Amino acid sequence: MTYPVNMTIKPDVEAFFDEATNTISYIVKDPTSNACAIIDSVMDIDYAAGRITYEHADELIARIEECGCELQWIIETHVHADHLSAAPYIQEKLGGKIGVGAKIMVVQDTFGKIFNEGTEFQRDGSQFDKLFEDGDTYKIGNMDAFAIYTPGHTPACMTHVIGNAAFVGDTLFMPDGGSARADFPGGDAGTLYDSIQKVLSLPDDMRLFMCHDYGPNGRDIQWETTVAEEKAHNIHVGAGKTREEFIKFRTERDAQLAMPRLIIPSLQVNMRAGEIPTDKDGKPMLKVPVNML
Ligand SMILES: [Fe+2]
Repeated sequence: MTYPVNMTIKPDVEAFFDEATNTISYIVKDPTSNACAIIDSVMDIDYAAGRITYEHADELIARIEECGCELQWIIETHVHADHLSAAPYIQEKLGGKIGVGAKIMVVQDTFGKIFNEGTEFQRDGSQFDKLFEDGDTYKIGNMDAFAIYTPGHTPACMTHVIGNAAFVGDTLFMPDGGSARADFPGGDAGTLYDSIQKVLSLPDDMRLFMCHDYGPNGRDIQWETTVAEEKAHNIHVGAGKTREEFIKFRTERDAQLAMPRLIIPSLQVNMRAGEIPTDKDGKPMLKVPVNML
């Protein structure tokens, strides 16, 4: 397979684990310049109190300021259902373009209906600075990066390949964690399997970085593996598991999973590129649709 970019560059990747949501945010830096990108930032929320804060995002910002780096991109691998993005807060402090998969429009349409958003809620992705299509290339300093369309967990999921590192979002988990659920509106287990195959067709030594880890069986939290490791050992798709086996397993498993604790605030905020929705008087306000999810 040929790819549109140079995948021999080794970006500096720094991971920031968010204990409240088991999310890993990344700063990805070009080793030959000051340019960097953030992948999947997290805003802190005390949902019971309706209170948001930015400790996790401030950690990323402090790190970038400390290294004197220039933030060029703030990338969301997808519209997360388990944590809120801090992208606009970070952009206000450091600049950078907020990017997401172009199929965000499908997600906005689906959840625009579920949350009964009015016509003022644009469903054209215009809240974001960049909508990535499959195969789109972009630069972080001198580094080449490109986006691969990897739907299934959600309709707008993208994997971002930056030099020899790929940020897989919620397509894959660590080999002992398997894969993400595929039962949210617009998700599909067969599509997820096909997307995972795209990731696993990257070079064997490609470094893979996860968006989540839950430390299965009591092991310490981890976030980095390789294509070769996933192909050999992933408990859901590795060692030659078939598409049919995966769909059966994934569908049965998903039927037993509860909704993520933060799905309701997460979707409302993340489909707006991380902005908190406002009520008719312009006050920040979240809704709870009843019996809709
Ligand atoms: Fe997700």
